[in-house]
Amino acid sequence: GSFESIRPRYLNEYIGQKQVKENLRVFIEAAKMRQEPLDHVLLYGPPGLGKTTLSNIIANELGVNLRITSGPAIERPGDLAALLTNLQQSDVLFIDEIHRLNRSVEEVLYPAMEDYALDIVIGKGPSARSVRLELPPFTLIGATTRAGLLSSPLRDRFGVISHLDYYSVEDLCRIVVRAADILQVKIQPNAAVEIATRSRGTPRVANRLLKRVRDFAQVRGDGVITEEIAENALEQIQVDPLGLDHIDHKLLLAIMDKFNGGPVGLDTIAATIGEESDTIDDVYEPYLLQIGFLQRTPRGRVVTARAYSHFGRTPNHESGD
Ligand code: ADE
Repeated sequence: GSFESIRPRYLNEYIGQKQVKENLRVFIEAAKMRQEPLDHVLLYGPPGLGKTTLSNIIANELGVNLRITSGPAIERPGDLAALLTNLQQSDVLFIDEIHRLNRSVEEVLYPAMEDYALDIVIGKGPSARSVRLELPPFTLIGATTRAGLLSSPLRDRFGVISHLDYYSVEDLCRIVVRAADILQVKIQPNAAVEIATRSRGTPRVANRLLKRVRDFAQVRGDGVITEEIAENALEQIQVDPLGLDHIDHKLLLAIMDKFNGGPVGLDTIAATIGEESDTIDDVYEPYLLQIGFLQRTPRGRVVTARAYSHFGRTPNHESGD
């Protein structure tokens, strides 16, 4: 119905990530039975897989408030102290990109996570002393693209560590059909498969593509998303049959054409195509690695034979190794 949100609000609306979902269901129910806050949760995995959505769901299931922030937004220990002291009993604090917290902020977080306490230094020099401030028991949900980016003292303070993985085409298809229903647009089953196949394992991409295809169905058709409209629309917006966009193409073609397939370093690729190294590392590469188009080697990135064949080419090894 039209009152539903396209983002799932409860676990029973959340499609996919079966293992993560089933485990969270148990941990949430146990915490509620004990009337305690849920243990701190670390969510890691590629961007767009629903880490923020899942945090919303966790807070809803617990029946508590959710405060959302990110590692780079918390510049000083005082910023974190302000957030923590405004929480109510058992609330959830979500810190996205938690691997980007300052060292000084991270150190304030340790006692907060472990003892629900803030250690505040009052005064300067020899008369300085530390005062311990009690915090309401709370749940921290941290999100990061790779668990390995966290310092081990921080990682060790999470009681629940959940890995989100790319979604199957089948799950993405269900997500597309559900979203179309909420958006009140008719979609043919094969059209949903077409969108799901080109969504690079990512619900955020699937929902975005659905909305763009809906625009074409409305303007060029009679509003129904048919397979033909979906295919034409996706081609028109330059999403290829594997879901690769023009930046993926630019990246792969640059390595093939300018570096003979690699190996070539990340920063060199970034400079060549005019994208941020971090964006390539976090957003573009994980999927290209997943579908076997790119390999990470100690000497840099290498384009695989499979990627060459996607472009109708064959690797040229004459000047390479
Ligand atoms: N929209 C985005 N992610 C979703 C998911 N996992 N299930 C249902 N709808 C979604």
